[in-house]
Amino acid sequence: MKIIMLGAPGAGKGTQAKQIAQAYDIPHISTGDIFRANIKEGTELGKKAQEYMDKGLLVPDELVCDLVVDRIHKDDCEKGYILDGFPRTIPQANALDEALAKDGEKIEFAIDIEVPDENIINRMSGRRSCKDCGAIFHVQYNPPKKENCCDVCGGELILRDDDKAETVKKRLDVYHEQTAPLIAHYKEAGSLHEIDGTQDIKVVFEEIKSILG
Ligand code: AP5
Ligand code: MG
Ligand code: ZN
Repeated sequence: MKIIMLGAPGAGKGTQAKQIAQAYDIPHISTGDIFRANIKEGTELGKKAQEYMDKGLLVPDELVCDLVVDRIHKDDCEKGYILDGFPRTIPQANALDEALAKDGEKIEFAIDIEVPDENIINRMSGRRSCKDCGAIFHVQYNPPKKENCCDVCGGELILRDDDKAETVKKRLDVYHEQTAPLIAHYKEAGSLHEIDGTQDIKVVFEEIKSILG
């Protein structure tokens, strides 16, 4: 099962991808998480990526495409995978299509979670992520059982550096300009499924499961 998650920053890609990965026993591959892990470890890739991420801009395609193509050829991807945050430009989608076509494969499900811009800023300011395991919470919509403490591993919950209101606005502009055109790309390929992401987290997940079967 090869799945990609589309949607604006804060639409709920990560929240849903984690649950899908668990339910279908396939790896959750988030390029944002990969870059954040590299930033934390102080790698060269992390240093380069951070320059763009802090400004709300996309990391250049050449730093992303090979990394993802290598990752999806690892053994744990044999049964499939869920890509979260990739592709997010037309050249990235083309690079993915070409890499898959070499093995006679394609993306089977492109799940687009739709949330209007007005709802996004509020969602981002309330997001809290676990600094150790990356679990995602929201102070209002998905609160942890104990304040500032991860339900999964007990780690500390933190705000992401790029969730400041000005940076979120820039990320939304970048989304509309560079990533939204992928909706038409996957519609044409026949794999697009659009979901109303303003519904409750559990309802969104049920709808995704009914699509994936
Ligand atoms: P990335 O980490 O991918 O961020 P993003 O796409 O901006 O999306 P987010 O992770 O912010 O949101 P999400 O949709 O996962 O929402 P979440 O589930 O957390 O990328 C970060 C940066 O890395 C980019 O800006 C770029 O610089 C770089 N990058 C990454 N990939 C790249 C690529 N391929 N090419 C180039 N650059 C790349 O939910 C948000 C909040 O809402 C949470 O608090 C959650 O609890 C809550 N929530 C979720 N669903 C609901 C719901 N249904 N109702 C109410 N609240 C909800
Ligand atoms: Mg995410
Ligand atoms: Zn945790």
